[in-house]
Amino acid sequence: MKIALLGATGQTGQYLVQQALEQGHAVTAIVRNPAKLTVHHDNLKVVKADIFGAGSLKAHLQGQDVVMSCLGFPASFWWGVTGYTVSMAAVVGAMREARVSRLITMTSWYTEPNSGAQSSYLIRFLLLPMIRSVLNNMYEMEHFLQKAEDINWTVVRPPGLRNLPATAQEFLTHEGYFVPDGSGQPAGGAVGRGDVARFMLSLLNSNAWVKKGVAITTK
Ligand SMILES: NC(=O)c1ccc[n+]([C@@H]2O[C@H](COP(=O)([O-])OP(=O)(O)OC[C@H]3O[C@@H](n4cnc5c(N)ncnc54)[C@H](OP(=O)(O)O)[C@@H]3O)[C@@H](O)[C@H]2O)c1
Repeated sequence: MKIALLGATGQTGQYLVQQALEQGHAVTAIVRNPAKLTVHHDNLKVVKADIFGAGSLKAHLQGQDVVMSCLGFPASFWWGVTGYTVSMAAVVGAMREARVSRLITMTSWYTEPNSGAQSSYLIRFLLLPMIRSVLNNMYEMEHFLQKAEDINWTVVRPPGLRNLPATAQEFLTHEGYFVPDGSGQPAGGAVGRGDVARFMLSLLNSNAWVKKGVAITTK
């Protein structure tokens, strides 16, 4: 498939580039700093564009089968995070102009403000308040996509990310804001970035999670 990838220079994005190329896909990495992507491959094209400008993105989306995003923006206590919504508005605008309808993007467990109520004290009272500005903007972006009826989007929600390559472990999935175990508690707290990339790429062969948000973790 022809994949346009945003966030290709990031930690998850780099796993996704590597796995996509191994699987025989053609990847167009849309980045702000091409020098940061050190991989060279006949099926990898690296282009510089502004993720906040539909006009800048449009030309790179033309002829693509799918847009994938591993974009990330830092948390802030002082001002709201807007990168997820502003970039997604530009991406969806460019997708419409370029007539690309499939979108696979990542957010996180606990984007819904009350969904962390059953998480551990450490997560609930320390981690989630620290990253709430990011989670809020991810949640807004998820709502924006829910209203984009012409876009076949999937939001992949992982828990805490570890810098680990893909495994062969089975995925646990749940259409919600975290993956519950048998007693309704969050099932584990972390997943490897390589496995997140593996899950996102597995969606290219399935319509199971189209127009849905799916929380994932590994068994
Ligand atoms: N950390 C966790 O435990 C955790 C858990 C769940 C979900 N997540 C979310 O998962 C996503 C991926 O995480 P990650 O750790 O793989 O991300 P990351 O390493 O921080 O990478 C972020 C990517 O976004 C790009 N980016 C940011 N601002 C940009 C801009 N203005 N223009 C162009 N590109 C821009 C970065 O480009 P540059 O390389 O040029 O900076 C980079 O490619 C993030 O949204 C993160 O919040 C994280």
